[in-house]
Order: sequence, then structure tokens, then C-alpha cells
Amino acid sequence: MPDKRTAPSKGVFTATVLANRQTGDCFYKADLEFTDAGAKALATFQAGQFVQVDASDVSLPPEDTIPAHLRDVCKRKVLLRRPFSFADVTAEQDRTTAELLYCVLGPASVRMTTLERGDALSIVGPLGKGFWVPPEKDTALLVVGGMGAPPIRCLAQSLTAEHPEINAVAFVGARTAETLPFEGTLDEVSQQLGFWVPAFAKYGIPSVVVTDDGSVGSRALVTESLVQWLDQHEHRPEKTIIYACGPENMLSALARVAEKWNIDCQVSMERRMACGIGLCQSCAVECRVEGSQETVYKLCCQDGPVFDTREVIFKA
Ligand SMILES: Cc1cc2nc3c(=O)[nH]c(=O)nc-3n(C[C@H](O)[C@H](O)[C@H](O)COP(=O)(O)OP(=O)(O)OC[C@H]3O[C@@H](n4cnc5c(N)ncnc54)[C@H](O)[C@@H]3O)c2cc1C
Ligand code: FES
Repeated sequence: MPDKRTAPSKGVFTATVLANRQTGDCFYKADLEFTDAGAKALATFQAGQFVQVDASDVSLPPEDTIPAHLRDVCKRKVLLRRPFSFADVTAEQDRTTAELLYCVLGPASVRMTTLERGDALSIVGPLGKGFWVPPEKDTALLVVGGMGAPPIRCLAQSLTAEHPEINAVAFVGARTAETLPFEGTLDEVSQQLGFWVPAFAKYGIPSVVVTDDGSVGSRALVTESLVQWLDQHEHRPEKTIIYACGPENMLSALARVAEKWNIDCQVSMERRMACGIGLCQSCAVECRVEGSQETVYKLCCQDGPVFDTREVIFKA
């Protein structure tokens, strides 16, 4: 399938924090504002691209508020920028706002919890290549595994704005109710109406929620809920596409589902990234060479993070 993505202009920009608050057990949401050249560059952000955030100057919170298992590790200096996707990007006249949804995992993200309205944050981006829409698709199946939510939410936003001809359905999976990376009540009425997750309902996209322990939604894997939908709903494989972000074993299972049903599938991959711009080679993704038994290593930060599953050799 031809990959028509372009790499838009990138740069180092300063974002102003508009708000930053806790939205779940380990989840935070930061609203950022870009003006001038930053607003222009970020206005071209494609769902699935990412930015590198510099948290080296951001202060640590008081020690007793840091999760116990992270207290020691968080004292490490944050030397490298960290990659983050955006969950929502809105371009207005001379400003662009973006929503950064992040999970608290280590030194950088613990520091980011102390960001306050008015703080400045250095961002490099937009980086990498995002999701693309091949011609003649009429159905998009959006699959989220845990913290894979931000790029898929951003995609829901851009599909709604730019491809109203495409009907989308979202499948959201997490280990437990507490690890669902979405705000808002998952109430019974919205469940019965099929618009369970508010972040997708706001774009008119129905959603299905499953958890590993059944604490919310059915007790199932998100790949199982996708297969159930494929079994029960009429769709034409050549007009359908799966978009996903989540843990690599989920992406690998999805690739097998997509192959079996002969459906195009694009996934946003995660690798540890040092530079984010193709210099350090730390983010290799093993890929097939079309028409050959050979493989090549592509760079997640430059050739991805979004890949067609037909080309990826998954590690999990
Ligand atoms: C393209 C891309 C987009 C991302 N978007 C988001 C996002 O929108 N929201 C979000 O919360 N996180 C996102 N991440 C992950 C994010 O970069 C890490 O959570 C971040 O680096 C954590 O930094 P830290 O210093 O807090 O913790 P670190 O000490 O850097 O990491 C803590 C632990 O998390 C694991 N980890 C961190 N990064 C990765 C990775 N890339 N792959 C596999 N395991 C990893 C490791 O086990 C590590 O020990 C994204 C990663 C990539 C590559
Ligand atoms: S992160 Fe350095 S080459 Fe990809």
C-alpha cells in the first residue's frame, strides 16, 4: 500500500502550560498552548506523530507524594527528552493547543506532575510519521490498549474532521477499571447507548470497553472484542482499516487478526528513544523486505512510529 505521508516542518518550541491535573490513578492531563512559529508547526501535527519533551528543569514534587516505588529512581537527573504523543490538537488563528495525556512511570513523568499554569515547557516536534488513510475506506476500527489512548484519540478527532465518510468504532482495553486512561464516568446509560467512553462519544464514535479482570466492561482481551465485532457486523474487508496503539503483544495479536480477516492495519509502535530524530539508532523496528526473506531495521522515530502491520516483525 503506498505510504503518502510527508514529514512536516519540525523545530524546538516553547509550550505554555494552561492546566495540568490528575485524571486517574497514575494518569495526568496537561493542556499546552503554542503561539507564533510553534503554533504553525504544531498545527500540522498528524495523529500518531509525537513530540520530545524536556523535563530536565521541571521540579520534583515533595518526596512523600511520589509513589514509593519511584522515590529513588526519580532522584536521577533527566538528561534526555522523552517522547509523548498528543491526544488532541486544536489549531486556532494564531495559537495551537494540545492535550498531553501521560502516565507517571519514572523521573520525567513524576516531574511533569508539578507543572502549573504559566510554566514553560520545551518541546521538539512534530516528529515521526503518523497514521494515514488509504483511499476508499468506509470503516475504521480504533483499538486502544492501556496507555495507547493518546494517538488513537487524536486520530478520532482528525477522522471526524477530515473523513466524515468513514464510520469509526472504538475498542478500549485495560487491565482494570483503574488503568483505563480516560476521564468521565462510564455510566450505564452511555453503555446501553453504545457510546461508553466520553472521549470518543464527543466525536459520535461508539465504543466497547473490556478489562482483563472484568472490573468494567466484559472480561476479555481487546483483540477478542474486535473479533466479536468483525463476526457480528457486516463490513467489507477492503474498505475497512484497523488503527491501534498499545502494548506490543496486543499489536502483534492484532496483526494476526488483520491478516486472517484480510484487513489493513496500522499500529503506533513504542521504542525507547534517545534522540527522536534518527541519529542514535536506539529505536530500531525489524521490518520485512517486500518480496524477499530478508529483514531491515527501520527507525521508530523517523520511519514510524506508525507502521503497517504487514511489514513489522513483532518482538512479542
Ligand atoms: C512515540 C511514543 C509516544 C509516546 N506517547 C506517550 C503518551 O502520549 N503518554 C505517555 O504517558 N507515554 C507515552 N510514551 C511513553 C513515554 O515516552 C514514557 O512513558 C516516558 O519516557 C517516561 O519517562 P520517565 O522518565 O517518566 O520514565 P522512564 O524512566 O523513561 O521509563 C519508566 C519505565 O517505562 C518503560 N518505558 C518507558 N518508555 C518506554 C518505551 N518507549 N517503550 C517501552 N517501555 C518504555 C520502561 O520500562 C522504563 O523503565 C510514548 C512513547 C513513544 C515512543
Ligand atoms: S530515537 Fe534516536 S534514532 Fe530513533
